[in-house]
Amino acid sequence: MPLSFDDLVDPFEQGRGLPPHALRTFAALVRALTGDHVHPRVVEPGIGPGRLALPLLLGGCHVTGVDISQPMLDRLAARSHGLPGRCDLVRASATALPFPAATFELGYVASLFYLIPDWQWALYELARVVRPGGSVLFCRERSDLSPALTRFDAAWRELISATGFRHEATGPDDETVIRTMNERIGPVERRSLAQWTIGQTVAEALDGYDERLRPLYAGIPEPTWTRTVGALVARARELFPDSTTRLDCQVSFEVAIARVS
Ligand SMILES: C[S@@+](CC[C@H](N)C(=O)[O-])C[C@H]1O[C@@H](n2cnc3c(N)ncnc32)[C@H](O)[C@@H]1O
Repeated sequence: MPLSFDDLVDPFEQGRGLPPHALRTFAALVRALTGDHVHPRVVEPGIGPGRLALPLLLGGCHVTGVDISQPMLDRLAARSHGLPGRCDLVRASATALPFPAATFELGYVASLFYLIPDWQWALYELARVVRPGGSVLFCRERSDLSPALTRFDAAWRELISATGFRHEATGPDDETVIRTMNERIGPVERRSLAQWTIGQTVAEALDGYDERLRPLYAGIPEPTWTRTVGALVARARELFPDSTTRLDCQVSFEVAIARVS
């Protein structure tokens, strides 16, 4: 079943915050790349509830957000109300952006291509609507899991795979995206914008696991889901007899920048 974000607004918003220093650095980078414009025109396809767009709006950018999910756009409309920048929201697909060529100073994308089978079209569309000399940014978070989290994660993947559930993850790996940007848009510069550690104890990870992850696995029937989460709890107790063991992850927020020629 394709992953729809219509029912995921709350879990998505709660679980995916970038820390303030990462957001500040991102906003500063967009400002630096858009030069003298007081209200640079910026576009984000697959904008979701706007975790990257909101700091840009705070800084006065004119952000155009595109998403196929109306509930995501509604949430962003509510959150962006009253901010200094202008926010235009459009329900459309990233693969067919409803804007003329060269409309924007800068376009960026984050956590989107893995959802789109023909992701290249979304990339070409983004480059099409950015003016020559403007920038296309591919933002990503790279995670280095601690050994404990790697084991926890492997246990969960094994249990989920035993249910027969498969996400329709259709997109490319990050290096393929960056290579395609380099070949089709322009020379790519990579920047690492922020690093931080996230994590929790085993006990914290398991607390409410059922409810938190359920929306992501809506395709699994209820009895199988309950059994699978129960099996994870049992497996975690074996792997980590001390439930205060930490499951940490080093996150690095990185951006690949291509100048449109
Ligand atoms: C994982 S969220 C990322 C949101 C935001 N870019 C971020 O990094 O926080 C993916 C978003 O892309 C939207 N989406 C998925 N496929 C899309 C498509 N073909 N065109 C436009 N938006 C799409 C989803 O509805 C969802 O809001």
